[in-house]
Amino acid sequence: MHLTMLGALIAVLLAWPLAANADDDETNTMCSPESAVNTTSLRYTILSNQWGNDGSGLQCVTSDLGSKDDNSTSFNATWRWFGNRTEVHSFPSVILNSNVMPVVVSNLTSITIDASWAIVPEPSDETETNSTMLASLDTVADVALDMFLDEDPLTSSNASGATTEVMVWQSAYGNLKPLGWDTISADPPVRELSAVNYTLYKGYNANGQTVYSWVPAQNQSTLNTDLYPLVKYLVEDGAISDRMYLGRLQFGSETMHSGQNQNISFIVSHVEMNVNHEVWTPPKGSGSGHKGAASSLQPSVALVGLVFGLFWIF
Ligand SMILES: *[C@@H]1O[C@H](CO)[C@@H](O)[C@H](O)[C@H]1NC(C)=O
Ligand SMILES: *[C@@H]1O[C@H](CO)[C@@H](O)[C@H](O)[C@H]1NC(C)=O
Ligand SMILES: *[C@@H]1O[C@H](CO)[C@@H](O)[C@H](O)[C@H]1NC(C)=O
Ligand SMILES: *[C@@H]1O[C@H](CO)[C@@H](O)[C@H](O)[C@H]1NC(C)=O
Ligand SMILES: *[C@@H]1O[C@H](CO)[C@@H](O)[C@H](O)[C@H]1NC(C)=O
Ligand SMILES: *[C@@H]1O[C@H](CO)[C@@H](O)[C@H](O)[C@H]1NC(C)=O
Ligand SMILES: *[C@@H]1O[C@H](CO)[C@@H](O)[C@H](O)[C@H]1NC(C)=O
Ligand SMILES: *[C@@H]1O[C@H](CO)[C@@H](O)[C@H](O)[C@H]1NC(C)=O
Ligand SMILES: *[C@@H]1O[C@H](CO)[C@@H](O)[C@H](O)[C@H]1NC(C)=O
Ligand SMILES: *[C@@H]1O[C@H](CO)[C@@H](O)[C@H](O)[C@H]1NC(C)=O
Repeated sequence: MHLTMLGALIAVLLAWPLAANADDDETNTMCSPESAVNTTSLRYTILSNQWGNDGSGLQCVTSDLGSKDDNSTSFNATWRWFGNRTEVHSFPSVILNSNVMPVVVSNLTSITIDASWAIVPEPSDETETNSTMLASLDTVADVALDMFLDEDPLTSSNASGATTEVMVWQSAYGNLKPLGWDTISADPPVRELSAVNYTLYKGYNANGQTVYSWVPAQNQSTLNTDLYPLVKYLVEDGAISDRMYLGRLQFGSETMHSGQNQNISFIVSHVEMNVNHEVWTPPKGSGSGHKGAASSLQPSVALVGLVFGLFWIF
């Protein structure tokens, strides 16, 4: 066998399993109340999270598990609940698995999210949220980011144990209101983020957790921003301590109600989240160190292997 051909064959054999992994676009469907699945990249966990399932409906979540190097993910949750319209029945959602968290708030530099979504009747050909149609189908639901914080780093990732929850709502249908809507002051804090004004509400949930909710002035269907200023505001306002840890970042839809036997789909066509913190670079020589930003990057082993194989051919 010709030497370069042998080289090429070995290179292909070396690269093949890695390339096959990178194309492994598997889909997963979960219909049971408390299932979870990791994306292939392990960067995200997608949860069915039917914590308020009262037997009045159902929910199935389909996820695209993607490939090893993906920074983003996508999933759809199809649900219906005919029970109590003021109770949350589920929070189908995605959690960021970041080796940066838990991170002390004083070390946080950014909490970025890039996402697009829609809430549509199922079955239908709709790809965009139509609030008139949702109202006619008696739909009560929201779309929100959820952060959990606690002074104990271990407790900060516990959604029911953390003392503090910070939500950033994106949309709400069916007259759904944030906790504390009935006690809000006449002049509540408002912060503008990526051309959207968010109003701050404060309330307490049934777990006794303090819940801060930033609620947008208009319903959103895309988001590409850094949420850190909304957390920083709470620190500067004295609402939370910068000694608290951010332990969990989650994006999903609180589902409450739809017309009898009416399926609704929460379609998340794209979501990418990143949490970044300050890192201390040891001083070189006599100079002092400096702070830079680091995020939760996964080493791209497959890519390195592939590049190595290709170089070897030529
Ligand atoms: C997701 O991956 C993490 C880390 O490998 C693991 O601890 C966890 O059990 C996995 N979760 C699921 C639902 O597979
Ligand atoms: C994921 O993010 C990292 C860091 O920003 C980047 O280098 C890499 O190209 C991204 N991967 C994909 C598949 O977009
Ligand atoms: C979600 O639903 C949309 C619209 O039906 C479809 O295009 C997309 O492939 C689905 N995504 C997943 C992960 O099932
Ligand atoms: C719905 O839930 C609310 C809040 O928990 C409760 O006050 C109300 O009685 C419930 N309504 C029905 C019809 O069960
Ligand atoms: C939204 O739905 C309503 C009721 O079904 C319909 O009349 C209207 O044309 C729809 N709007 C858009 C923009 O599709
Ligand atoms: C999370 O907090 C709840 C409420 O304090 C507690 O019952 C539960 O055991 C905690 N879970 C874990 C995994 O520590
Ligand atoms: C946000 O509110 C401020 C104060 O009312 C206003 O000046 C600003 O134009 C608003 N921003 C947007 C994007 O509506
Ligand atoms: C979102 O849409 C619903 C239904 O049309 C409406 O009642 C609600 O006021 C909207 N929310 C915002 C913040 O615009
Ligand atoms: C509603 O969704 C469930 C779960 O995905 C599915 O089994 C059922 O066929 C759907 N019903 C309709 C009318 O689409
Ligand atoms: C904050 O970051 C600095 C620099 O990386 C680190 O030395 C320190 O331990 C961090 N603080 C906490 C509480 O993790």
